[in-house]
Amino acid sequence: LFAGPVDFVKGVTTMAALPPADRVEVCFAGRSNVGKSSLINALTGRKSLARASNTPGRTQEINYFALGESRYLVDLPGYGFAEAPVAVVRKWQELLRAYLAGRQTLRRAFVLIDTRHGIKQVDDEILGLLDKSAVTFQVVMTKADKVNQATREANIAQVMAALQKHPAAYPEIIVTSSEKGEGVETLRAVIATLE
Ligand code: GTP
Ligand code: MG
Repeated sequence: LFAGPVDFVKGVTTMAALPPADRVEVCFAGRSNVGKSSLINALTGRKSLARASNTPGRTQEINYFALGESRYLVDLPGYGFAEAPVAVVRKWQELLRAYLAGRQTLRRAFVLIDTRHGIKQVDDEILGLLDKSAVTFQVVMTKADKVNQATREANIAQVMAALQKHPAAYPEIIVTSSEKGEGVETLRAVIATLE
């Protein structure tokens, strides 16, 4: 699946502009700067397919990438960017809610959590939103290369404890580093099994 072509399809800001729901898709949600675009690049083996940058809030559209002929990878705009104007945040929340609740072909939402920080309140709000939508979510820890073993274990434990109160949570998490490649093959395998 990941050996084949990967193409940028389009970036959208409204539900009406989504591509036809004719393929299985998975999405990547998470705070600004958590590493969503970098992870999509690592998964697909393209260095700059999804633009990755140091500037928080860079990905402001829902970006669709076609994986071969049968799947879409969906890069969602980052949330929790403190300096974003209130109107922008509200528009994004409405779009996210509509997308998560209404996208028939969405099979799993990967929620990215920085291994350095664990689940913050703003993440927990998104997890609450996911509980109310029809889709299973799975936590993917990012930037694992940036922490020592003790912090890693403590924050994995914090995440696992927080997931207890979210009925839509998939019970296993995946720890990744886009930089070092850790967990990337595991995540590819999960995506490949979703139908
Ligand atoms: P927005 O689109 O703004 O929401 O951000 P994003 O979640 O797409 O994050 P992005 O992939 O742009 O990464 C943000 C920064 O973190 C960049 O400087 C990346 O190089 C860095 N980064 C991402 N993943 C990793 C990782 O696994 N390890 C390390 N060390 N840095 C990473
Ligand atoms: Mg991005």
